[in-house]
Amino acid sequence: MITAQAVELRIGARVLLHDASFRIAPGDRIGLVGRNGAGKTTLTKTLAGETQPTGGKIVRGNEIGYLPQDPRTGDLDVIAMDRVLSARGLDSVVRQMRETEGAMASLDVETHEAAMERYPRLEERFLAAGGYAAESEAETITSNLGLDDRILAQTLGTLSGGQRRRIELARILFSGVETLLLDEPTNHLDADSIIWLREYLRHYSGGLIVISHDNELLRAIANKVFHLDGNRGEIDQYNMGWDRYLEQRETDERRRRKERQIAEKTAGTLLAQAEKMRAKATKAVAAQNMIRRAEKMLSGLEGVRASDKVANLRFPKPAACGKTPLTASGLSKAYGSQEVFTGVDLAIDRGSRVVILGLNGAGKTTLLRILGGVEDADQGTVNPGHGLKIGYYAQEHETLDMDATVVENLRHAAPDLGDTEVRGVLGSFLFSGDDADKPTRVLSGGEKTRLALATLVVSSANVLLLDEPTNNLDPASRAEILGALSTYEGAVVMVTHDDGAVAALNPERVLLLPDGDEDLWNDSYAELVSLA
Ligand SMILES: Nc1ncnc2c1ncn2[C@@H]1O[C@H](COP(=O)(O)OP(=O)(O)OP(=O)(O)O)[C@@H](O)[C@H]1O
Ligand SMILES: [Mg+2]
Repeated sequence: MITAQAVELRIGARVLLHDASFRIAPGDRIGLVGRNGAGKTTLTKTLAGETQPTGGKIVRGNEIGYLPQDPRTGDLDVIAMDRVLSARGLDSVVRQMRETEGAMASLDVETHEAAMERYPRLEERFLAAGGYAAESEAETITSNLGLDDRILAQTLGTLSGGQRRRIELARILFSGVETLLLDEPTNHLDADSIIWLREYLRHYSGGLIVISHDNELLRAIANKVFHLDGNRGEIDQYNMGWDRYLEQRETDERRRRKERQIAEKTAGTLLAQAEKMRAKATKAVAAQNMIRRAEKMLSGLEGVRASDKVANLRFPKPAACGKTPLTASGLSKAYGSQEVFTGVDLAIDRGSRVVILGLNGAGKTTLLRILGGVEDADQGTVNPGHGLKIGYYAQEHETLDMDATVVENLRHAAPDLGDTEVRGVLGSFLFSGDDADKPTRVLSGGEKTRLALATLVVSSANVLLLDEPTNNLDPASRAEILGALSTYEGAVVMVTHDDGAVAALNPERVLLLPDGDEDLWNDSYAELVSLA
């Protein structure tokens, strides 16, 4: 149980939220929605106790499982499975049991006997913490989240951001706490895992808040919806499931638009009246008051207008290049003894569109990283064609310099661009004057995605390598990006689970991993997208 009383969240001069009161009780499954940058992550972080609210009070009744939007940097030397088991204090005892089992097999009599003596004590501790049932519960959760034994045996430092997130998610689900705060839990999951998670959360008996832009997830699990309106700084609480919320919200927006029209009209009348009265000395004060009232009315409306704004995007003309700007042959990659893919050949023609399909762990991100020159293949070569300019969009925004400001990141991508142009591009990606000087690290998930895409846009790339480009985007921004993608003239190689993104791309070809088979696109592949 979490209770928020008159909570205020302020960042500098900006008030994200004021005077918000609500509760998360057992049985509450709350979908928290709102535009990118509205303050959803900031709010859940505060509910989790990682930061303090600037006003009001948050009372936490029990332990909380919090999944942050960015993979947490913690102790990177921990073995992944131990990290999961540590949620119930099982990690050290399981590790000691394994070691002791090894020692029991020792030929050295003393070692053997010491181990034989130690083992029952360890097993007792193990059973007290839930024992074999708990261990197998953890295994069920990890396997349903697409984490195989190979990954579970690695240390956290060797895992990708997406894999680390899945480990954290598994850990939280395994922990058995009564309240969950999940920030975009389906990012990085494949379709099977998403369906499993949906069912899991639907039957969850505790209370939970889930931030998501995934309608299907919200439809399946939410019995309440909180809409965080960053412009008004308010949470609208809807005590209903997703579909009814959508209808209700529509009605509310219509009412607000109407109120706005009325306010605008009233303000107009007031101003006209004041203008007439101003001439007369006796009425000058009254006229001043009228003007002030009208201005106040109008300034109250600004927020509503700003919320309707979305980026108006077009990807610019790509730089000229040869007929086949990018080819690769015989690419193979293995991690340790585990082969990811072998002998992948690929030719990307100018302006062509390719989708890469494959299950979690099939190597889609790895292949894009190799094509993007961020990682080396074990075997095979990537051959840049004439005039190739790659624009690589990384799933975890690793192409952005988190310590630089928004403007500096853009300048870095296009050093020749003038100041006005830079500000112009930022503006069309919805970064206002102040936002432009923010350090990139503090940006919200969706804002980071927008910035990363903006850096591609200015670089006049002619081959875009896009790894899940629609993750984190709110529906309006997603529609904008997909619109821009559908008219882009350069070549695109995309990895995505988002069938809308594939439809917008209108691909000609598909590359199937891990086999590396290529085929012409046809509709039967569309069904595979959300499965991949
Ligand atoms: N330390 C900071 N300094 C300046 N601005 C900040 C700071 N931390 C957060 N912000 C800003 O606060 C706003 C809210 O961010 P938050 O991450 O909570 O948004 P969000 O609703 O989770 O968005 P998304 O859907 O994109 O994840 C953003 O505009 C962000 O840039
Ligand atoms: Mg967020």
